[in-house]
Parts: sequence; C-alpha cells; structure tokens
Amino acid sequence: MPRSLCQITDFSAAEIKEIFEITKRMKSGQDSSKPLEGKSVACIFTKASLRTRVSFEVGISQLGGNAVYITDAEIKLGQRESVADAARVLSRYISMIMIRTFKQSDVEEMAKYASVPIINGLTDLVHPCQILGDYFTVLEAKGEKDRFVVSYLGDANNITNSWLNLASLIPMELRIGTAEGFEPDAAILKRAKANADSKIVITHDPKEAIAAADVVYTDVWASMGQKHLGQEKAEKLKGFQLNSSLLAEANSDAMVLHCLPAERGKEITDEVMDGPQSKVFDQAENRLHIQKGIMKFLLN
Ligand code: CP
Ligand code: NVA
Repeated sequence: MPRSLCQITDFSAAEIKEIFEITKRMKSGQDSSKPLEGKSVACIFTKASLRTRVSFEVGISQLGGNAVYITDAEIKLGQRESVADAARVLSRYISMIMIRTFKQSDVEEMAKYASVPIINGLTDLVHPCQILGDYFTVLEAKGEKDRFVVSYLGDANNITNSWLNLASLIPMELRIGTAEGFEPDAAILKRAKANADSKIVITHDPKEAIAAADVVYTDVWASMGQKHLGQEKAEKLKGFQLNSSLLAEANSDAMVLHCLPAERGKEITDEVMDGPQSKVFDQAENRLHIQKGIMKFLLN
C-alpha cells in the first residue's frame, strides 16, 4: 500500500520536518523539480472549495502534472459504485488522488484500495493539509520555538482535530476555548493528551484560552454540512468571537490565523482579520507551497 495522508498522524514528526524542508526549498525556488511530469492527479470534491481546489490545481501544474477535477455529480461516491472500486479504477489512470468529502471512512477506504497515494483535502473529521500549512506559516513568521502556545477559539471541528493531531507529534501548548457540548473528537483528543511533550487544555473560558498565546486561531462556527445549525451554534459560541478586546489578552506579538472562508462579524471581526496581527492571507498562500511539499514527499 503506498503512503497516503488521511490524517496528520499518518506521518512521524521527522517526516513532517522533512515535508517542511521540501516546502521551504520549493517556495524559495531552490527546488524546481517536477515530480509529476507526465502524470495526472485526480482532485475529487464532494464539498465546496476555493483554496483547496485552486492551490492543488496550480501546485500540480507547477510540479509538471495535470489535475483532473471531479465532482460528485459525476462519480456519486459510494452510490454509483463502491469507494473501493472507484479507487481501483482511478489508480489505473492517475498517479495520486486528492479527495475532499464528508466521511473520513471514505478517505480511509480509498487509501486502502488505491494503488496510488491519497491526500485528504478535508473531511468532517480533519483537514490535514490546512494545519500542516498553518504550522509552516507559524515557523516562517516566528522561527523555531520549543513549544508554541496555540489558542483555538470557537467550534471544535475538523480544524481543531487536526491541531490536536499535530500536537500529538509536535510539542505545543494547545488551548481550545469552546462552549460546553462542542468538544473535539474524543479519540483524537486522547491521542494528543498521550504526548507528554504537549499540553492540551480544553476550557469554556475564552480569556483562559487566549491568555499569553503565540498563535490565535479561529474558524467558522458552522462547518460545511452543518450550515442549518448556524443560528444555534452562534448563540452558544458568541462569547468566543475573536475581536480586539479578546485579542488583547494574547501576547502582543501573537499572530492571528483563520483557515478561511471566514464569516466576518461572527467568529472574527473585520478589525482583527484586517489588523496588523493577521497572517490569514500568508496562511492561505502557504496551502499551495505545503501541498507541493506533501505531493513531492508522497511521490518519493
Ligand atoms: N481553507 C480551505 O480549505 O478553504 P476552501 O474550503 O476554500 O478550500
Ligand atoms: N471547518 C470548516 C473548514 C473549511 C476550510 C469546514 O469544514 O467547513
């Protein structure tokens, strides 16, 4: 079975560092290799996307390859034929599969039956490319540190779970500030807590979550597939809005991250998103670079 990225814990800490090194060399132009020359990559989307779609298609082209964009209208994943059969068929045409979909189990099934690497471009459970790119953005802006204090505010979702996955491999103090009943995935939380070098705090107090943070992160309160719960979630999570008065509780040089798309005025205010501490567009750019690093690593 080829190596895949179904979630961050498919890699070791050493491999993540290697991916960051490859990414750095590609971003700076030191490495302009084209490991996808003459090859095609399937990009399957059963959910909407701007960043993931465009950064993958552009990255694949920069690596010499051809991206084949596929929506659920054509393949009807798991309905028209099994995920396993779709994986077997695609493996006969293409060299890698990037998939964004709802169920993590579909991505894992694809990785089990494909004979080419699979990259998870977001599921309800995790968003590994995003958080690898985000940590690369932190290192780029702040340099190396033994243990960053990362504060995540709002809905405990696929982004939160991926931060926890990273904390299970890379030492950090991860403080998750969320409302009661919005806790992250229990198994992923348990694995992160098992890393003695990381400290994981779950709190319902936004000020406790953000105090002395180096990195302050938020995401939409209602993820794709949950938009109908938006009103109810907003009621419960409104105290975790990232606004200037809450941001003042973090370190004065704390960087603000958001995976985007943002719902301005809900989880984050314009003032913070457009303010001097915001690195959200550097973060969005780095999706391109990190994914090239991930693809090159998986093709080796
Ligand atoms: N951050 C992110 O994955 O954006 P898209 O949903 O637009 O791909
Ligand atoms: N949590 C969000 C992330 C979007 C990139 C969602 O799943 O919709």
